Amino acid sequence: MTDPTPFKARRERLLQQMQARGGGIALIPTAPEALRNRDTHYPYRFDSYFYYLTGFREPEAVLVLVAGDEPKSILYCRTKDEEREIWDGYRFGPEAACEAFAMDEAHPIGELGPMLPGLLADQAALFFSLGHDAHWDQQVTAALNAARANTRSGVTAPAMVTDVRALVDEMRLVKDDSEIARMRRAAAISAEAHRQAMATARPGGFEYELDAVIGQCFRRAGSQAPAYPSIVASGPNACVLHYVENDRKMQDGDLVLIDAGCELDGYASDITRTFPVNGRFSGPQRDIYELVLGAQAAAVAATRPGAAWNDPHEAAVKVLAQGMLDLKLLAGSLDGVLESHEYRRFYMHRTGHWLGLDVHDAGEYKLEGAWRSLVPGMMLTIEPGCYIRPADDVPEAFWHIGVRIEDDALVTPAGCELITVDAPKSVADIEALMARMRDAA
Ligand code: GLY
Ligand code: MN
Ligand code: MN
Repeated sequence: MTDPTPFKARRERLLQQMQARGGGIALIPTAPEALRNRDTHYPYRFDSYFYYLTGFREPEAVLVLVAGDEPKSILYCRTKDEEREIWDGYRFGPEAACEAFAMDEAHPIGELGPMLPGLLADQAALFFSLGHDAHWDQQVTAALNAARANTRSGVTAPAMVTDVRALVDEMRLVKDDSEIARMRRAAAISAEAHRQAMATARPGGFEYELDAVIGQCFRRAGSQAPAYPSIVASGPNACVLHYVENDRKMQDGDLVLIDAGCELDGYASDITRTFPVNGRFSGPQRDIYELVLGAQAAAVAATRPGAAWNDPHEAAVKVLAQGMLDLKLLAGSLDGVLESHEYRRFYMHRTGHWLGLDVHDAGEYKLEGAWRSLVPGMMLTIEPGCYIRPADDVPEAFWHIGVRIEDDALVTPAGCELITVDAPKSVADIEALMARMRDAA
């Protein structure tokens, strides 16, 4: 059973913020179910904002927050239904949900539509995210118009519609203790999955075998699903950033890049490791690998309270660009390739993103035009890479080498803590783990 305490505390914080803006009412629906084909649905995943404020995982639910003299949290959800529960399983129903999720009130979801105009009446503002769900956009617009049509009888309709997600985004950026605990656990499960993938890899095996090992590790440890489709990219596929087919036969001499992280109780982890399929890095592979590892170390060192969001990226880029010059992938001066962005030929993505309920989590990266400062409790990835496609002006020894090394970092008062370090990362640690497996076979 989920402890409702942190969710209730978040609702109270949001209600205070609404109150500080003059009060009003917030409507936060969860995600709709999505049809896959005919009568089969995609596995259901709740909306992250709704879940952040409720802990409630069933579809067809809306959170209503009323900020006023008597602040209130009201959940609208599915009713109990013996027939449907035989087919689809347990549902809380309003009565049990009210208690389990520490709401002030709960009602059947079917009652929300007819009640909406009344709920909006005499509220100063409506806190709602337009444009995310056509069904709710239409319901809310109709209710606003119904409230406006009543103004002759003395009712006032909300004069302002504010994006409630923008308020919640700021809250989601800094993780509370319960979130950090879940994310540590998700990180540990994913790190173990990467270890198992390293232990399983062999020339002649297929990428999907490693994908399956990873998926099994996630599920066996209680994760509900991968946080995003796992990337198992061997040989040339490592240079395809969003490769997800995972169906190639791995060859002796290949590197394999695995970007995979589980979702645990809504929270994502996001790890990339790159290692040789045969357990030994070749010279050129090691050159690129050590370069990326050095870039990651520089980015980690730049991740600390007070640093600007972009500092870790700039630190990584500097190391990578110098390495590309040293390895003759690029020609010219460091300042020159930094200014011309020539390094982007081999490093075309950014060094990280916020991490939380969403793998690319909520939260602005800039405030009033400037990169925002890091503060303790933020969670982000640090994931430099280098991807070398064949080209006439690139030494052939480096062709098809694609390396990314990605860890999840918690900003701490002293700097940052990588919560994914149980996945081996140094050349020595990777080769030792794989040698142990070879010896044991
Ligand atoms: N796995 C998604 C990312 O690394 O951004
Ligand atoms: Mn990532
Ligand atoms: Mn990733």
